[in-house]
Amino acid sequence: LRNRRPIIAIDGPAGAGKSTVTRLVAQQLGLMYLDTGAMYRAVTWRVLQAGIDFTDEPAIAELVSQCQISLISSGSQPQSLRVWIDGKEVTQAIRSLDVTANVSAIAALPVVRHELVKQQQRWASKGGVVAEGRDIGTHVFPDAELKIFLTASVQERARRRLQDLQGEDQGTVSLEQLEADIQLRDQRDSTRTLAPLRQAADAIEINTDGFTIPEVTDKIISLYHKKASSL
Ligand code: DC
Repeated sequence: LRNRRPIIAIDGPAGAGKSTVTRLVAQQLGLMYLDTGAMYRAVTWRVLQAGIDFTDEPAIAELVSQCQISLISSGSQPQSLRVWIDGKEVTQAIRSLDVTANVSAIAALPVVRHELVKQQQRWASKGGVVAEGRDIGTHVFPDAELKIFLTASVQERARRRLQDLQGEDQGTVSLEQLEADIQLRDQRDSTRTLAPLRQAADAIEINTDGFTIPEVTDKIISLYHKKASSL
């Protein structure tokens, strides 16, 4: 028997529906929600805010080793994960187009990944976590009890992103532009040498095209119960 509570790893590309589904799974199973993408975004926001050049690795190393990131989710409101870095709330700011356009570059830096993975493993040392990201099942929690790889077509993901942006009133951006952005980000995230986006050998793939959020959530929860009963 393990001396920690279970861990569920949910990986996949941007726009596959990970965030909402992961929040709901965490809430329904009474587990903690760990959004690792929000951590990479918060560091990116901080680097941009400090005006540090992306090639200045020593300065970024110092920033990431000293920064304080807090992810606060209120149990009753699964949609409202609040993100703080160094005493400033950045919940909205980390979703801006500026941060989104730059986060892949920051997430590719070894010193950033090393430091954030260490924090993620520390937070989850007692288990009881549903973590979403790109390298959770392959790298951060390779012994997670359940690993899910969520996917969706580029077209479907661009459509969802457009809807999100319209909801947030972030100006005009075309569907074609979003498709191109998503393709570029996928390519960067899956071809980087360090911890690329990759499906773990023991992960279960779920393609979310044509499924509703509750359907995907239920599917993961039933996979979890099946797994838990066989442990
Ligand atoms: O899931 P997201 O869009 O919030 O992630 C933001 C970026 O961070 C994305 O470009 C990939 C990167 N990321 C990563 O490299 N590793 C993770 N575990 C999570 C996110």
